[in-house]
Amino acid sequence: MSLLELRDVEVVYQRRDGTLVPAVAGASLDVNAGEIVGLVGETGCGKSSLAKAAVGLVPVASGSITFEGRPVHVLGRRARPVSERRLQLVFQNPYESINPRRTVGAQVADAFAIGRTQARSSWRPRVEDLLRQVGLPATMARRFPHQLSGGQRQRIAIARALAADPAMIVLDEPLSALDASVQAQVANLLVELARNLHVGMLLISHDLAIVRHVAHRTAVMYLGVIVETAPTADLWTAPMHPYTQALIDSIPHADGAGHLPVALPGEIPDPARPPSGCRFHPRCPRVMDRCLSEVPELVAKDGGRRVACWLHEAPGGARRAADGPSVAP
Ligand SMILES: Nc1ncnc2c1ncn2[C@@H]1O[C@H](COP(=O)(O)OP(=O)(O)O)[C@@H](O)[C@H]1O
Ligand code: SF4
Ligand SMILES: [Mg+2]
Repeated sequence: MSLLELRDVEVVYQRRDGTLVPAVAGASLDVNAGEIVGLVGETGCGKSSLAKAAVGLVPVASGSITFEGRPVHVLGRRARPVSERRLQLVFQNPYESINPRRTVGAQVADAFAIGRTQARSSWRPRVEDLLRQVGLPATMARRFPHQLSGGQRQRIAIARALAADPAMIVLDEPLSALDASVQAQVANLLVELARNLHVGMLLISHDLAIVRHVAHRTAVMYLGVIVETAPTADLWTAPMHPYTQALIDSIPHADGAGHLPVALPGEIPDPARPPSGCRFHPRCPRVMDRCLSEVPELVAKDGGRRVACWLHEAPGGARRAADGPSVAP
């Protein structure tokens, strides 16, 4: 049993005009203790929606999510019980997730104190310990957020997540707001924490270069589905899905927003009207006839890889998904 198990998860939003938007359209993914799993894909492919579903912040339309063997229920963040503290979420923007009017120490102490009854004074050594764990001096506890750099603030956000003693942290674009040099430092911190604390991490990024550096395993998402997952080194050196290949080819060209101006024709389609068959077929350089009508399933390959593409159909390994998403409603 994995720490976090996502099975055929669907997240459906409703637009103001009533249109249903299946932002996540049947995604399956596992994260183990101490493992960093990278989740990559263009902006709009459903990464944040999958992350929110994983921590119970958006409802799941179908499929299942279990964490430590128990189903993840949808609750308001404030209402989450102590046990749910073991699954923490760190957002992209350290400026928004930190209270500007309270000292760093007080904020970390708050995160530590929820559900605990000790006197406040007894938390100080633990707070200073947490600051050291994220590479900050204990004196930082007396500072206010505006006195910190972006990288320091994101370290504080990570310290607050760690204060809950989590088994797993979901990080949604945690490095995107940071300078490149700071990105590398915080990325290294994540690797250390996963190893030393045996915390599982789901690291979401549109930046494959960061994920390559940090993640043990990488999952590639396209228009609401996982199209390939593999040990990161294998994914990098021998991508099997044409979309993975395109992402890798686009790295020197990708702009900060995660758009891919060179490697792929066109934009990611509207998830409310997904293409028939393989969702990637309108942009795929290797599209075949069957790709237009038949949905490729995520099929296990050697070496712990899974891929959803008709180019890599194992004999008898893939089946037709008669009830899969096909034509737009
Ligand atoms: N609250 C919402 N209502 C309607 N559509 C949404 C909502 N949130 C996200 N979407 C749509 O769902 C898709 C996936 O979004 P998101 O999960 O944020 O992707 P990513 O994090 O990969 O950029 C996008 O098409 C986005 O426009
Ligand atoms: S199934 Fe077909 S369209 Fe989809 S990625 Fe593979 S070759 Fe391309
Ligand atoms: Mg996002």
